[in-house]
Amino acid sequence: MEKKNRISLNIICAAIIMLFVSASACTQQPSDDDAQLEAKVDSVMSLMTMEEKIGQMTLYTSGFDQTGPTVREGYKEDIRAGRVGAIFNAYGAEFNRSLQEMAVEETRLGIPLIFGYDVVHGHKTIFPIPLGETASWDMDLMQQTARVAAVEASAQGLHWTFAPMIDISRDARWGRIAESAGEDTYLTSKVSRAKVRGFQGTDLGANNTLVSTAKHFVAYGAAKAGRDYHTVDMSDRTLREVYLPPFKAAVEEGVGSFMTAFNEIGGVPATASEYLFTDILRGEWDFDGFVVSDYTAVNELIPHGVAADSAEAGALALKAGVDMDMQGAIYHKHLPDLLEEGVVSEDQINEAVRRILRYKFKLGLFEDPYRYSDTEREDELVLNEEHLDLAEETAQESIVLLKNNDNVLPLDENIGSLALIGPLADNQRELIGSWSAAGDYTDAVTLRKGIENVVSSGTEINYAKGADINSDDRSGFSEAVQVANRSDVVVMALGEAANMSGEAASRSEIDLPGVQQDLIREVLKTGKTVILVLMNGRPLDLTWEDENVPAILETWFAGTQAGPAIADILFGDDNPSGKLPVTFPRSVGQVPIHYDMKNTGRPMSENKYTSKYLDIPNSPLYPFGYGLSYTSFEYSDVNLDKTELTASDSLAVSVDVTNTGDVEGEEVVQLYIRDMTASVTRPVKELKDFKKIALAPGETSEVTFYLSHEDLEFYDIDMNWTVEPGEFKVFVGTNSRDVNDASFEYVTQ
Ligand code: GLC
Repeated sequence: MEKKNRISLNIICAAIIMLFVSASACTQQPSDDDAQLEAKVDSVMSLMTMEEKIGQMTLYTSGFDQTGPTVREGYKEDIRAGRVGAIFNAYGAEFNRSLQEMAVEETRLGIPLIFGYDVVHGHKTIFPIPLGETASWDMDLMQQTARVAAVEASAQGLHWTFAPMIDISRDARWGRIAESAGEDTYLTSKVSRAKVRGFQGTDLGANNTLVSTAKHFVAYGAAKAGRDYHTVDMSDRTLREVYLPPFKAAVEEGVGSFMTAFNEIGGVPATASEYLFTDILRGEWDFDGFVVSDYTAVNELIPHGVAADSAEAGALALKAGVDMDMQGAIYHKHLPDLLEEGVVSEDQINEAVRRILRYKFKLGLFEDPYRYSDTEREDELVLNEEHLDLAEETAQESIVLLKNNDNVLPLDENIGSLALIGPLADNQRELIGSWSAAGDYTDAVTLRKGIENVVSSGTEINYAKGADINSDDRSGFSEAVQVANRSDVVVMALGEAANMSGEAASRSEIDLPGVQQDLIREVLKTGKTVILVLMNGRPLDLTWEDENVPAILETWFAGTQAGPAIADILFGDDNPSGKLPVTFPRSVGQVPIHYDMKNTGRPMSENKYTSKYLDIPNSPLYPFGYGLSYTSFEYSDVNLDKTELTASDSLAVSVDVTNTGDVEGEEVVQLYIRDMTASVTRPVKELKDFKKIALAPGETSEVTFYLSHEDLEFYDIDMNWTVEPGEFKVFVGTNSRDVNDASFEYVTQ
């Protein structure tokens, strides 16, 4: 068909679509939203050929950024031919507009593309990596950062983010722990809700919101031995109690899409799992969004060994409930034949396409395919002052003070001289961490710059790199020792490279890489006071550092404003309040280690025949929920307003928390429970609530939590979701180890 005729047909078809849309719109009753949406979808579906439908089920990368093993040559021809409905890894108001024009102006029906990207912890303004941001335990803040990310991304032509990543992560060897909210189900579920609310806002049709994606469904973080993409095998009980809740929380918050996980679970690859995507996600949870595979995950059903060829892989994925094939081109290539052969049905294809078109309508793309490609908004919003201020605040809140012997910190801004040593001291690249998407590290403010902006003009800063992040080159040690010797105090910025965590970045060892620990040893020999500032994407084995260095700050990869934030903490302009969202082990040999372990039948004791190691304690170096402050907090005993709880009432749990130091500080008061005896074994602690409070010096605040039946529920021996009568302990404290406790009985009426 000649281009002129095709375009005129395209206009006619588009007019028919708009006619349907406007007709249904003018008859719209507020309660008819769903009916109207279905009418719009029906109108488009009725015009589509099967090839055009399958095109909507296909997602290709633009090659603008590469986030997986393959790139797609000729994706623009695919767009023009209507063979693709979604593009990812493309951003920029003008660039995305140019691709959208190909779809809207040059295809037969002009169905707009949806543009997706990994806007995980910021778009251009980069916030701390998710593991670090979760250390703030501030859900409002985490919702705000997702909101800002959506504002910036949607100003650059994006409609859809592949976030939040809500995989429970308990293995420090696994690189993607950096991208997670840590080890705890309750905390990750809170983060899941905050992120979906932040990204999606209250109106997906607004030009500053994104459809968000709950990923990776499911249990990707339980990869055997912490090796990325490795086998996952667990009981249905563990799956449902530990790994599923954050995803259910996302559905309850209205998340628009889900992404499949690469791993198998108990022999079934997630991308081929009807149990996950049909029985649980759509059957039990009534999810009405669309499911996208992860990068070529449909193709990977072949090496998994459940599909003999790509046609079979495509049939398995569609049958499981996967609506869109990311980058694999399997749906595009095989669905027509599979349909012809009766292996898949037209209904299966139609349902997948409807789910996708619903979100294109919800985004307003049929009304105005270009509303998200506004260069004026892009110029006004990206990396603006307000966003950078939020990035600095979030970085501050994410920093965890792990050690501060003799109150070495905070430093005096008028200090005479300061040695700044380490490969991360004057480094921009690593600051924005992994999955920093459109983030540009040249926008990041280094620690060196941050310190220079805080200290007095009379302070001499002596810098030396000292060593690489990950090499055996010791040639920089002497210069480092020299600058230390001529300075009053030493700040060492050490850790990992950003690419040593994230996807396909598992480590078998979790100590400081290269010769960085030897560098510390050499600098300590000068006798100077050393402060260790860590930048890393996972829990590290800091056992030696904890024994030898007087002050340690965990700053993760703190984002665009890392330098100012860390400097503010170092010099006391901000009091650290972060709490670990993940356990820091004494050794990689303890991994996986997490606070909510089971007691076992032989809990550790002096007796030889109990559950322990010969060479190290069972306890971690730093427990879940741990973090120090420049002030100190005292907790009263735990007070309960009753000693028995029934299904119809709630239990008030109160403590008085006092700031016993001489500076203002924030404290995350944490509440845990333990079900002492049940029809199945229960964890020794489970986080059930927390409150972040600010206290002036000497101030006392009564903090009260309310526990109800719902907080105690679990899967009993018959997998019923219930509460059994019996004794419960409740713990309140400053982390999962240092707590006060009380007991109550749950009684059935
Ligand atoms: C990657 C990741 C996934 C990401 C996708 C697109 O392989 O596993 O989290 O969203 O590809 O970049």
